[in-house]
Amino acid sequence: MVLSLTVNGDRLSSPSDPITPLIDVLREDFHLTGAKPVCREGFCGACMVLVDGLPTLSCLMPAALAAGCEIRTVESLAVDGTLTPIQAALEACDAVQCGMCFPGMVVTLTHLMTTKPGATREDIRAALTGNICRCTGYERIVEAALIAAAGK
Ligand code: FES
Ligand code: FES
Repeated sequence: MVLSLTVNGDRLSSPSDPITPLIDVLREDFHLTGAKPVCREGFCGACMVLVDGLPTLSCLMPAALAAGCEIRTVESLAVDGTLTPIQAALEACDAVQCGMCFPGMVVTLTHLMTTKPGATREDIRAALTGNICRCTGYERIVEAALIAAAGK
């Protein structure tokens, strides 16, 4: 059985077992290594991708469950090298350190920016409760998100 998935607008086929975690199919079969397998237990958020527009932990999702869904990874967000407003704000605020958490942070914040224009500090903090960063104090991430949310 060939596993067929729609990822970043492309229809892709995977030879993996359908119960393989989605993150492994994305990284190993499709060479989309943005999402990071950090804890593999649903605690850290580094593996976050969008499935039908919703932030989803790709370490916990069997790939077959994503068949028929639109999957978007962090690789799809910037177009022709142009960062999205939230990516640009995170860069401008120097919000990233080691970067392991960042693909997941960006995916979560991208969802927040599209579903809650004008998000407040509290909204941003709440959205990021599932994204763990071991390096930063979160404050620059939140400041960047506030800038992007305000459209500055
Ligand atoms: S790797 Fe998926 S939640 Fe940590
Ligand atoms: S920047 Fe290192 S874990 Fe977040």
